[in-house]
Amino acid sequence: MNRSLRRTLAVRFAATMGVGLLAVAAAVLYGSHLFFEHHVDPAVIRSAMAPALAGVVLLITAATFVGAWWLAGSVVRPVAEITEQATLVEAGTLNQRIVAHAETSEYRGLVAVLNRMLERLDVAFRIQRRLTADVSHELRSPLTALRGEIEVALRAERSPRDYQRVLHSALEEIERLTEMSEDLLLITRIDAGLLQAQRQPTDVAEVVEGALSLLHGRIEERGLTVERCFKDGAVAPLDREMIERVAHHLLDNAVKFTPPEGTIRVTTAPLDRVGGVRLSVEDSGPGVPPEYLPHIFEPFYRVDEARSRGSGTGLGLAMAAAIVRLHGGTIRANNVPGRGARFDVDLPVPEPQPVAGP
Ligand SMILES: Nc1ncnc2c1ncn2[C@@H]1O[C@H](COP(=O)(O)OP(=O)(O)O)[C@@H](O)[C@H]1O
Ligand SMILES: [Mg+2]
Repeated sequence: MNRSLRRTLAVRFAATMGVGLLAVAAAVLYGSHLFFEHHVDPAVIRSAMAPALAGVVLLITAATFVGAWWLAGSVVRPVAEITEQATLVEAGTLNQRIVAHAETSEYRGLVAVLNRMLERLDVAFRIQRRLTADVSHELRSPLTALRGEIEVALRAERSPRDYQRVLHSALEEIERLTEMSEDLLLITRIDAGLLQAQRQPTDVAEVVEGALSLLHGRIEERGLTVERCFKDGAVAPLDREMIERVAHHLLDNAVKFTPPEGTIRVTTAPLDRVGGVRLSVEDSGPGVPPEYLPHIFEPFYRVDEARSRGSGTGLGLAMAAAIVRLHGGTIRANNVPGRGARFDVDLPVPEPQPVAGP
């Protein structure tokens, strides 16, 4: 049944008052009956007092209803205001906040909770919108380049060598696009909870060695020194393939941003209190400007757009962060005074899952 709170409250107040008054009236009638029993005929008492008592009961009950109606109105008014304002909030107007005239702490609490929820939704929607805009932008640039090159090549008869050059460059762009879409797919699948970490005992120092050997050519080419500091016991149940990606992205950035003849320091160590592993990668590059640090793990975020574009997908750190989140760990970026950037990844041993009962 669809009854308003105001009406329900008013009717219940008035009904309670009416029943109470009826009981009092009955008691008064009975008392007078006992008191005047020997002097006056009971029928006379009843006929004299009953209508008066009934009138009083009716009057006070009606007055209670009116009072309760007014009181309940002021109690439920903020609910109506909150409902009306919340109804107007849509995907495009999530920056609106509810401003009900709620003086009581309960309503103020409710309004605060709703506004915090709107705030979280607003942030999530903004991130989503920005990601969509960034993806379209990142897709358009290589596709435009690809199209331009092919159009120019087709404008006249070319030598097989020229065609080969165009095809090579097209292949490079396509490889970059493929890598980008695979990275994005992995990040979004992790964030949507569609991927599980396939944990197996993993020696993180070994993973780092694997990643370093893949970067060996570039490290040599730039004359970089790699300092390894592998402490014993840096082994934990981790998704090996995913942690390989994390190590690769961090080391790839360190190689990319460290000037020639610079130094990269990699540390792996067991996590003392909780168990698990810490992986740290530190370089002697320019570091990350402090104002950019809070954004560095967002997809497609690059400090130096012009310099970084083309040399990576802009998804390396976002992917590393997603993988670390999947493992219940944390990733932090810092600047080491006098050196470059430092990335710390903590990968704790997962809490044992409660065993389902029989
Ligand atoms: N070791 C580092 N030193 C300085 N800046 C870094 C370092 N690692 C990452 N960054 C900054 O973070 C941005 C994002 O990194 P990443 O997600 O790996 O994307 P990409 O390497 O494709 O540019 C980089 O463009 C760069 O501006
Ligand atoms: Mg990178």
